[in-house]
Amino acid sequence: MLITAKSVGAEGSLVMAKILLLNGPNLNLLGTREPNHYGTNSLNNIAKSLATKAIKAGHNLTHLQSNAEHTLLDEIQAAPGKKVSLIIINPGAFTHTSIALRDAIIAVNIPFIEVHLSNIASREVFRQKSYFSDIAIGVVSGFGSLSYHMAMYAALEELRRTEI
Ligand code: DQA
Repeated sequence: MLITAKSVGAEGSLVMAKILLLNGPNLNLLGTREPNHYGTNSLNNIAKSLATKAIKAGHNLTHLQSNAEHTLLDEIQAAPGKKVSLIIINPGAFTHTSIALRDAIIAVNIPFIEVHLSNIASREVFRQKSYFSDIAIGVVSGFGSLSYHMAMYAALEELRRTEI
């Protein structure tokens, strides 16, 4: 596992780990996009409350949403250099198509949690295949925006567990 060592932050407080939240295509439309599948919470609200949870636990969360596969690839490739310890990712439709994102996340060897708002296992057949689930620490799917909070909870537990 790639967990960064504890270091001292600007105010002398312990900075424990960097968490990267990544969201793929169309997730910028959360709140208005197919609310029957994805709920009414905006991605901004979700990311803000996850960042607050990270800070309360002594960690730091950065967030990137992109509709472009190459931007997500670049961010994953840059993650080791930024000392990211754990990734929470909703690859959106790339879940079902992107061998490139799968390869990138394997290449950087950073543990990650896969998140989906909808229960992809109960939707169209083409959504039932994920290129990420078999290499993720775990998958949270089907709980709307709560999926992100459950993933965050799991991420904090994972960081606690692997730092001992
Ligand atoms: C999604 C499920 C995907 O099939 C879809 O393409 C999305 C959102 C989810 O969060 O439920 O964009 O990842």
